[in-house]
Amino acid sequence: MQVITTVSAFRQTRAAFDTLGFVPTMGYLHEGHLSLIRQARAECPAVAVSIFVNPTQFGPREDFERYPRDMDRDLAMLEREAVDLVFAPTRAEMYPEGYGTYVVLPAADEVLEGAARPGHFRGVATVVCKLLNIVQPTRVYFGQKDAQQTVVVRQMVRDLNIPTTIVVLPTVREADGLAMSSRNTYLTPEERQVAPAIYRGLRAAKERYLAGERNAEALRQAVIAVLDAEPLLRPEYVSVADPITLRELERVGEQGALVSLAVRLGSVRLIDNVVLGASL
Ligand code: PAJ
Repeated sequence: MQVITTVSAFRQTRAAFDTLGFVPTMGYLHEGHLSLIRQARAECPAVAVSIFVNPTQFGPREDFERYPRDMDRDLAMLEREAVDLVFAPTRAEMYPEGYGTYVVLPAADEVLEGAARPGHFRGVATVVCKLLNIVQPTRVYFGQKDAQQTVVVRQMVRDLNIPTTIVVLPTVREADGLAMSSRNTYLTPEERQVAPAIYRGLRAAKERYLAGERNAEALRQAVIAVLDAEPLLRPEYVSVADPITLRELERVGEQGALVSLAVRLGSVRLIDNVVLGASL
């Protein structure tokens, strides 16, 4: 496994590989990340992983500084997965003095995570665009956990003619249903006990949908009823949206729906989602 920290060295090493699978991450790896890496490993003769906590996708009052980092642990995990290339640049390598270009998808900022976190998807699209230009992967892997991120990246890749194939894989969960996330490490033991209610709420909507409910507000209320039973959980939004346009629905039709939410649990902000009658 080669660990590379500069763009120029990565480009040189990349040239020795033909087909390359790529998993971009911010590190502090867990089974969710590993599921993407294993799928890449199964589908591609060589696999690259990036580890970079991207400052441009964090708002001024968000958790960039305290975001968990453990490069040694991450590299040991990647070694065990037989990853070929690791790209772990410094902030100055990605955003040198005088850096000035950003990729903006204005529609993404109007809904869901985009509306809740101004500038977030500008940072995500910019860094993913840069990483795709540097790594030049044949296939790039993302998790459904960050559903709007997959929509944003698909649109950017289409609009900017970036030559890669996007693969989206299901959310990996703890045994009690909590979606794996690097941010789960922020939870106190008490908050961690409450956290599975997030997925229970999403499941409640899914069960109502499977029982025939198609009214979006009724599905939303099914989620909220479960969340409201936990005083420590403070929902920021609960959305039943078109899985492609991310516009809020009144009724779930042929297109299916993305049921997504953000909640605050103590000092932690968590997101999760389920897809009804469709896939991302
Ligand atoms: P990060 O949060 O580290 O996630 C890296 C990838 O792992 C993303 O595609 C994310 O959706 C996926 N992932 C996270 N938790 C998952 C889970 N429980 N199950 C399945 N997949 C999961 O997403 C980012 O980093 C950044 O925004 C990035 C794309 C690297 C750009 O900075």
